[in-house]
Formats: sequence, C-alpha cells, structure tokens
Amino acid sequence: MSYNLLKGKRGIIFGALDANSIAWKTAERVHEEGGTFVLTNAPIALRMGEIKELAKKTGSEVIPADATSMEDLENLVEKSMEILGGKIDFVLHSIGMSVNVRKGNHYTSQNYDYTHKGWDISAVSFHKTMSVLYNKDAMTEWGSIIALTYMAAQRVFPDYNDMADNKAYLESIARSFGYFFGKDKKVRVNTISQSPTPTTAGQGVKGFDGFIAYAEKMSPLGNATAEDCANYTIAMFSDLTKRVTLQNLYNDGGFSNMGVSDAVMDTFVGE
Ligand SMILES: NC(=O)c1ccc[n+]([C@@H]2O[C@H](COP(=O)([O-])OP(=O)(O)OC[C@H]3O[C@@H](n4cnc5c(N)ncnc54)[C@H](O)[C@@H]3O)[C@@H](O)[C@H]2O)c1
Repeated sequence: MSYNLLKGKRGIIFGALDANSIAWKTAERVHEEGGTFVLTNAPIALRMGEIKELAKKTGSEVIPADATSMEDLENLVEKSMEILGGKIDFVLHSIGMSVNVRKGNHYTSQNYDYTHKGWDISAVSFHKTMSVLYNKDAMTEWGSIIALTYMAAQRVFPDYNDMADNKAYLESIARSFGYFFGKDKKVRVNTISQSPTPTTAGQGVKGFDGFIAYAEKMSPLGNATAEDCANYTIAMFSDLTKRVTLQNLYNDGGFSNMGVSDAVMDTFVGE
C-alpha cells in the first residue's frame, strides 16, 4: 500500500547488501512512496553485484563509497545532488560491522586495531556522513537523517561484543550532531533501535537464533521485521514527523520496556 508520503523527496540510502538487508526493504518502500534516491555501499560489497537488481527495480543509480572515507563521502554527496537534481531530503545510515566479531575475538580480549576499525565503520561513519552533508549545505530544511541501532547500547547482551559500544557511540553522535543540524539547518536526526533481524550483519552475532527467539517471546507484539523497520523509517522521512529529533526510537514490539513475559516465565515454572 502506498500513501505517497515521499513524493518529490530525494535521498541517499546506505547499506543495501542483499534482499534481507533492512536498507534493501527501506529502498523498496521509499520507491513505493514516491521518493527517489541514490544507493550506496562499500566498493567491496558492490562487487557482489546484488545491489544492481535493486537499482534497476527502483530506477536508482549506485555510487560506491566506503563510509569511513571522507573523500568517498564527498564524492557521494556531490554526485547524488547532481543525479537527483537538488538537495537531499532524507538519508538512511544502515551500516554496521565488528571485525572482532568476525574474527571470533571475545569482548574481554579484543584486537584494538579491529576495535578501532569496527568503531570507524559502525559509528564514526555517521559523524563523517553528517559532517559532509552539513558542510556542503546539502540537506533541505525539514530533511530527515536516520541511523539504525540496537538496544545493546543501553543493556548488556554479552554476545553483541564491541558492537554494543559502537551503538552507544552512534546514538550519542545522533544527539550531538542533531543539535547543530536542527539549530542551523532545520534537519532532524534520529536513531531507530530495531529488534534482532535475520540479515547478514544480524546473523554475525553469536547465538543469533536463541537471541531472536528470546526477543520474540519477550515482546508483546513480537519482533519487528525488516519491513516494519522500513515502514517506521518512511514515517520518519515524511513530513508527518517534523519535530521529532535527537531521539532513539524503539521499533521492537515492546521488548525494551519488558521485565519478563508469561511465555518466558513458562519455560522456568513447573506444572
Ligand atoms: N540485523 C539485526 O539484528 C539488527 C538489529 C538492530 C540494528 N541493526 C542495524 O541495522 C543496520 C543494517 O544492518 P542489516 O541488519 O540490514 O545487515 P546488512 O549486513 O544487510 O547491512 C550492513 C551493511 O553495512 C555495509 N558496510 C559495511 N562496511 C561498510 C563500509 N566501510 N562502508 C559502507 N558500508 C559498509 C555492508 O556492506 C552492509 O550493506 C546496521 O547498523 C545494524 O547494526 C541490525
């Protein structure tokens, strides 16, 4: 169903890797709602080629950019404005990667070069992206910038490893940069804190199956899917949420305010 919420709006969508990616679903929904956009991902992710399919389906162009490179980001923002024919109304930062998780290092014995790399990709890239958009004055007034995050920023999920710290940093950047973007450019900046979702990044977390099943049982509405996240993001990109900014918004079926649920209690209480 389309509400034409993004008719005439232009944007940049980071992080569509394959059809499971939250960014992929979001791109499909933005297209349905009448928005136009440039797709971007790290050059290495683009080589796998799947994004071309999405680009074709949504009539979009793809511009490679390593989100840790200021040069790449500057090129991305300039080219996007050229291609789309004006300033940018919405940006989705949907990027995350922990090298320590990938290499199997425990939280208590990290390789700090990996820690630094993962932090740069997962958190600082958001600051870099906003810095380029801000300094090039590339956003329209009442534009909207969203980054995706996870509740391990607030609470302990042992296997989330150093991504927990990266997400805490990411959420802080949203508030700190959001202040300047709001005051100086009338642009809102928020993070959406999403339920565990079966994607490439999600499944990288050790014990993911248990993790997602537990969250499902704890949440009164069940886990939010990638499609749910896409729909929430559309609402945040639309003109219906103009003064929502500096927020960390939970899209998690209620999980974040639960202590325990009947379904989880049932697994501990005998007959
Ligand atoms: N899947 C979950 O359980 C879950 C839950 C909450 C939040 N999130 C967040 O949602 C976002 C999207 O992840 P996803 O679950 O759709 O997984 P995904 O693996 O499909 O997406 C992650 C993306 O990050 C990109 N990326 C990695 N390094 C990059 C770099 N240097 N430059 C540019 N892009 C780079 C990857 O190519 C990929 O497209 C991430 O921020 C993730 O942490 C995911």
